[in-house]
Amino acid sequence: MPCGPLDWGHSTQGFVSERALLRQHVRAYRALDPGWRADLHAGGPDLAACCSRFGPRPPEAFLHDPFPRAKAYLARFPTPAAYTRSNARPRRVATVTPMTVSVDLSGKTALVMGVANARSLGWAIAEQLLAAGCRVGFSYQGERLRGELDKLLAGREGVWSQQADATSEEDLTALFSRVRDEFGSLDILVHSIAFAPRTAMEGRFIDTTPEDWNTALTVSAYTLVSTARHAEPLLRDGGSIVSLTYHASQQVVPKYNVMGVAKAALEAATRYLASEMGAAGVRVNTISAGPMRTIAARSIPGFGTMYEKAAASAPLGRNATPEEVGKLALFLLSDLGSGVTGQTVYVDAGASIMSMKVE
Ligand SMILES: NC(=O)c1ccc[n+]([C@@H]2O[C@H](COP(=O)([O-])OP(=O)(O)OC[C@H]3O[C@@H](n4cnc5c(N)ncnc54)[C@H](O)[C@@H]3O)[C@@H](O)[C@H]2O)c1
Repeated sequence: MPCGPLDWGHSTQGFVSERALLRQHVRAYRALDPGWRADLHAGGPDLAACCSRFGPRPPEAFLHDPFPRAKAYLARFPTPAAYTRSNARPRRVATVTPMTVSVDLSGKTALVMGVANARSLGWAIAEQLLAAGCRVGFSYQGERLRGELDKLLAGREGVWSQQADATSEEDLTALFSRVRDEFGSLDILVHSIAFAPRTAMEGRFIDTTPEDWNTALTVSAYTLVSTARHAEPLLRDGGSIVSLTYHASQQVVPKYNVMGVAKAALEAATRYLASEMGAAGVRVNTISAGPMRTIAARSIPGFGTMYEKAAASAPLGRNATPEEVGKLALFLLSDLGSGVTGQTVYVDAGASIMSMKVE
């Protein structure tokens, strides 16, 4: 007979009643004839047969068989003496129930900001949301980018898009008014936006101009704060915000320069927003993705070398993929991540844990 761990279920009430049940079984067990015990230990008794063997008045608890867990528990003891030694006190054992996890976001609504084309990390996230049945609205920076997004959305139902420069209060007001009109409320906000002038990333960090500093930090960090503020009145309890960051916030990555500072600001802003929005049941996290070949990455001098070195040093021997970013986002944006907020969560094939690679 399989003698697996005893599953007490999850409620206190269940625990108490099952203990009472066991006590009943204990009394019955003590009164059992040896043949019955042998059956019990050998492979599980046919209860009707056992009860008839027991006599005209079998113990109440064995008349029916609604107690397989108690039976399994009793069967753990090779002899009645062993049972008595155990004092009949069941240990509480964690059980793992095999299950298939699927995420259902039907009935949920999302706004994804920052899809330039099919390679955009924002699109990798949107694909997961759409596959989970979420209704998704998109914002794009300027009309120049509209064509690419239109191509991606062609033929999909329940999607819409609107132009919005995230640094423009006017555009944000119009965008979130559209969200209200389309959805009424919002469950998910994805901020996948960053920019720094190329001049700020080509030269030395020490030469960063105030203009480039302001641009990089405003677009790449402040817009998380401003979009969260616009979204706040619409976000429902259980809402979730995710943005994207990079490890250059923590360690120096050559040429990342002011963008490293902007990402540090974004990560700090994530914590402050999380602390304020938690009271309304809204979570805020940022995903630290490894290098990926996107338009934004192209503007980083030496990105190709960085991409190859990151793959070579990563424990998994490769870079993470946009799809893996999407899957992590799905976790954080769905109920699976319900206890996670204020965090910078890495998806980089482990590259960030390595200080150097020793062959
Ligand atoms: N590609 C990588 O290697 C990598 C790694 C880690 C983190 N990230 C982050 O991922 C996010 C998305 O970047 P991506 O790599 O997918 O590149 P991407 O170029 O596809 O996306 C960047 C998006 O930001 C938008 N944007 C820039 N300025 C804007 C503004 N003022 N208003 C509205 N939108 C604006 C662009 O239009 C574009 O859609 C960024 O935050 C980036 O820093 C990228």
